[in-house]
Amino acid sequence: MSITPRQAELVQSSFRIVQPMAATTADLFYKKLFEIDSSAAVLFKGDIKQQGQRFVQVLAVAVGGLSNLSTLVPIVKQLGVRHVGYGIRAEHYDSVREALLWTLALVLQDAYTDDVRGAWATAYAMLAGVMKEAAWGEP
Ligand code: HEM
Repeated sequence: MSITPRQAELVQSSFRIVQPMAATTADLFYKKLFEIDSSAAVLFKGDIKQQGQRFVQVLAVAVGGLSNLSTLVPIVKQLGVRHVGYGIRAEHYDSVREALLWTLALVLQDAYTDDVRGAWATAYAMLAGVMKEAAWGEP
């Protein structure tokens, strides 16, 4: 699994559109996630507003790190292992993927082109693949 420089660039440039709407985006994301998968809701123990801010921060770091994969991968592996401790199961990754892409479509509107969608789907698959492999030994 890899991401092309062009795709990393598309994720980063579309993320700049999302950034000023970070709070709304995070809100939409969690509402959608909990609608798709009610089993995900109970896993989040903290304040959902703080959670939302964290979500956006994480996206920003991950998106920035796409240009520097060798640094990102060990960090993402550790993140995957920690998620086992949060009670996350493999199927939750599919729910998060669906909620994330749905939210991006809504927030980016016309900027959500097929290429942008493909770039985010690839970026997410890559991050989730590394996390799942570190957690359970299979992507
Ligand atoms: C690419 C995928 C994901 C990324 C980049 C990501 C990132 C993070 C980060 C950075 C944290 C903060 C704590 C830490 O660093 O260990 C966190 C916490 C957490 N994540 Fe994720 N995550 C991902 C997927 C998921 C999935 C699939 C779920 C399941 C629905 C999930 C649920 C949680 C929960 C429950 C916490 C702890 C929050 C709390 O204690 O309230 N994450 N995540």
